[in-house]
Amino acid sequence: MTTTAALRVEGLGVRYGALVALEGVSWEVQPGELLGIIGPNGAGKSSCYEAVTAMVARQGRVFLGGMDVTEVPPYGLAGRGLKRAFQQNAFFDDLSVLDNMMAVLGGVAYSGLLASIVTPRAAARRRDEAARFAAGQLERFGVPAAYHALSPKEIPYGVQRMLSIALAFGDGAEVLMLDEPAAGLGGEDMARLVALLSDLKKEGVALVVIEHHMDLIMAVANRICVLDLGRQLALGLPSEIQHDERVLEAYLGRKQ
Ligand SMILES: Nc1ncnc2c1ncn2[C@@H]1O[C@H](COP(=O)(O)OP(=O)(O)O)[C@@H](O)[C@H]1O
Ligand SMILES: [Mg+2]
Repeated sequence: MTTTAALRVEGLGVRYGALVALEGVSWEVQPGELLGIIGPNGAGKSSCYEAVTAMVARQGRVFLGGMDVTEVPPYGLAGRGLKRAFQQNAFFDDLSVLDNMMAVLGGVAYSGLLASIVTPRAAARRRDEAARFAAGQLERFGVPAAYHALSPKEIPYGVQRMLSIALAFGDGAEVLMLDEPAAGLGGEDMARLVALLSDLKKEGVALVVIEHHMDLIMAVANRICVLDLGRQLALGLPSEIQHDERVLEAYLGRKQ
């Protein structure tokens, strides 16, 4: 049986001037699977992330649900189901947490001005429904109701991280990409993140997670791509990666 990968990259490469930050990287992720991308500092993980979503000039090809989207600009990818978290804490601080969520839900959440003048009651009802939907999404992503009326900058750091994932996911995604979602998280928040990622997998979302924390990746990844000095050092099951000599050497054998 062949299945169409949710996301596939072929021969991805990134150069910054003379520096080859990434070269010859190829992997795929199936619906309901999590691909972990790991590697030492400077390995090319973030460049890979930016390359997939066309945020940098790059070589190679990108396929979304079997369709070649190499020429699709970054803003066209979200509508095709590829969502990514932007830099952490990219919130509207003047809006409440709930309004941040409603803003990314866009058309789903906001009824038009005209509608609110012509049919104010129906518009108000739609807005209430939208607010309930947004609140439900937030809770599902680990942002409790007690924080919804606050500004994002007033909520704990761990919850901000979950909020940024909720905002990236919006009203749904075929593929969700996260760059170091666990950065700065403590044990309890980390456990919540693992549970969320597992839930998303069960719902059939394909996840690409770049991460420094080996424990987290080993706990949730179906397959792992190891980058080192811009090259794809290994691609395999977590159990294979853990015992791969080249990987051990890249992580342990070289002083960083
Ligand atoms: N915008 C940039 N301009 C020049 N060099 C960059 C830029 N971004 C990253 N690099 C370099 O590319 C290499 C890979 O970086 P990066 O993709 O950020 O690695 P990682 O995320 O694995 O730490 C590093 O040598 C880094 O210094
Ligand atoms: Mg990085």
